[in-house]
Amino acid sequence: MQFILILFLALPIILILYFKTQNPKHAKQELPPPGPPRLPFIGNMHQFDGRSPHTYLHRLSKQYGAVMSLKLGFRRLVVISSAEAVKEVMKSHDAVFSSRPALAALRRLSYDGLDFAFSPYTETSKEMKKISTVHLFNTKQVQTFLPIMRDEASKMVEKIARDASSSAATDLSETIMSFAANTVARIVLGKSYGNFFHLLHDAEAVLGDLFMEDFLPWLRWIDNLSGMAAKLDKIFQDMDTFCEEVIEEHMNPNRPKSMEGDIIDVMLRMKRDGSASFDITLDHIKALLVGIIIGGGDGTATALEWALTALMKKPLSMKKVQAEIRQLAGKKEMIDEEDIEKLPYLRAVVKETLRLFPPGPLLLPRETIKKCSINGYEIEGGTMVYINAWAIARDPTTWENADEFLPERFLAAEIDVRGQNPMVIPFGFGRRGCPGIGMGMSAIELALANVLHKFEWELPHGMKEEDIDFDSEPGFGLHKKNALRLVAKVVM
Ligand code: HEM
Repeated sequence: MQFILILFLALPIILILYFKTQNPKHAKQELPPPGPPRLPFIGNMHQFDGRSPHTYLHRLSKQYGAVMSLKLGFRRLVVISSAEAVKEVMKSHDAVFSSRPALAALRRLSYDGLDFAFSPYTETSKEMKKISTVHLFNTKQVQTFLPIMRDEASKMVEKIARDASSSAATDLSETIMSFAANTVARIVLGKSYGNFFHLLHDAEAVLGDLFMEDFLPWLRWIDNLSGMAAKLDKIFQDMDTFCEEVIEEHMNPNRPKSMEGDIIDVMLRMKRDGSASFDITLDHIKALLVGIIIGGGDGTATALEWALTALMKKPLSMKKVQAEIRQLAGKKEMIDEEDIEKLPYLRAVVKETLRLFPPGPLLLPRETIKKCSINGYEIEGGTMVYINAWAIARDPTTWENADEFLPERFLAAEIDVRGQNPMVIPFGFGRRGCPGIGMGMSAIELALANVLHKFEWELPHGMKEEDIDFDSEPGFGLHKKNALRLVAKVVM
């Protein structure tokens, strides 16, 4: 009797469970991506290795798969580490993955959502991005920047030649950074500024910091106590003041002639003639400037530094690329953009560098705007996403001799690195992809071609080839840890 009563009471539950498993909708129900076990409240925060997040996440992905999930405090994080999964995002879910998380550093630098680089995907950020791709960095506009790039490349060559004449080693990390910062400053702001370099440096450092506020908001007092919050505010204030002064200078009728046609000038003109689809305010211009300034200089400098490091470690490739350049250019003083078109090996060296050393190994963080499915896993809306471009471009299942620097692979086949091929995405892709690809590539190719054309490169006294290292600084960017110091010999 008792058994029948229990059966009777349990029957509805048994029936519900039965129909749930038979119902095709539920049978196919997708699970969230797998990931390491988590602790209450802090999730996986205690394990997260911020010193080298891309290698740490790569190791984890070997255990948990190409689409895996972690919990950082209250924040869900999904990490994508295969070309196949990126292809699915690119082809079917680009819009879903098109937001950015409102992390403290990004939020403070984004003027409350007015810009397009760091803010979530809103109508304004979409319009701002459109302005940047249609008006500021289109192919025709990038052509007008080329004389500046050439001029800065020639200044860099002169500086190195001065070091060479006294047989002193050149600190290429510093020399390259000032080339990149001056190039961006002149293109965007119309001239070089003394304090620009420091501003750029400080802002980049803070972008890589992990703020408690972003993951465990009730511990935000730690950000205050450690001084991180104050540092962030100070950098933002400095940036804001700097941008304001520069914009004011542009509005002065007696401004330097070099400011005509720079990025601020184009934006101010659009503001005046109302050619944008919304009212451009000064805050919009400042927000756009901050995004471009931070995005612009660093990637270029980082890639150039790694290219020279990789070539020093691979003398055969160095010889080959120098022979190609010198054969084409002969005694010509400077290599220009038309020459670059005829230097396939040089272009392959740049692509191979961006494959092995993407300056943003995890791209910039994305956030999903609604629920979707990738690789059969369900990803909820509002999930922060890292795309491990570094791991994908070194995946031995898709790349032969994946860890080796082999520019030849880019000669053997036409492989896109500008966001069309999920196997190699140093500039990201889709709606949130980098708008500065043309400018970045041109600056790297021009600068590299000229320093390889003009000089033979040697290691400083006492240093051997095996001493050249590929160590990177801790953090989210792939910056070289130890400065690259080389001795240049002028080629007669
Ligand atoms: C070698 C040089 C460069 C590299 C490797 C690089 C890489 C990247 C990457 C990985 C992203 C994130 C893409 C994504 O989330 O899918 C990005 C975004 C961005 N980059 Fe670049 N970049 C470079 C040069 C530049 C230059 C020269 C500029 C501007 C002058 C620039 C401006 C930006 C901006 C504004 C964004 C944000 C775009 C958005 O959120 O819609 N970058 N870049």
